[in-house]
Amino acid sequence: VERTLSIIKPDATKRNLTGKINAKFEDAGLRIVAQKRIQLTPAQAGKFYEVHAERPFYGELCDFMASEPVVVQVLEGEGAIAKNREVMGATNPADAAPGTIRAEFAESVGENSVHGSDAPETAAQEIAFFFSGLELVG
Ligand code: GTP
Ligand code: MG
Repeated sequence: VERTLSIIKPDATKRNLTGKINAKFEDAGLRIVAQKRIQLTPAQAGKFYEVHAERPFYGELCDFMASEPVVVQVLEGEGAIAKNREVMGATNPADAAPGTIRAEFAESVGENSVHGSDAPETAAQEIAFFFSGLELVG
């Protein structure tokens, strides 16, 4: 079964939306097999989003991700990576399909409530960034 790394971002944790967002994942058949609430430092956020280091919004993104606690989680299910991205909706909430997390909750393209891995290789890397094998309880 496939696993993916999900992050409930600061704009969502701040507005008490963790439960509502988790309900969307569970309703879509994704199982939360690991989950913790943590406060990232800007340096840790920078390391996580290293692939975006050359993008103009990198500094803003890292500061935002360190601005409030985040909930990091591992979601498991058939085709979990694609399914999670479908439930999240498009990066820009203005383009997100109705009923998706970003359509319902995201505030802007930057403060867009959730992150999800985009491929099997990045999912494996991102899961290992936050979790040890002992913390994954299928
Ligand atoms: P993630 O699941 O968070 O990786 O989102 P994504 O795959 O839909 O988007 P992408 O990987 O292209 O960008 C990563 C994150 O950078 C986005 O989720 C946004 O939070 C942020 N981001 C992307 N574009 C912009 C932008 O134009 N401005 C700002 N401030 N942030 C952006
Ligand atoms: Mg991405």
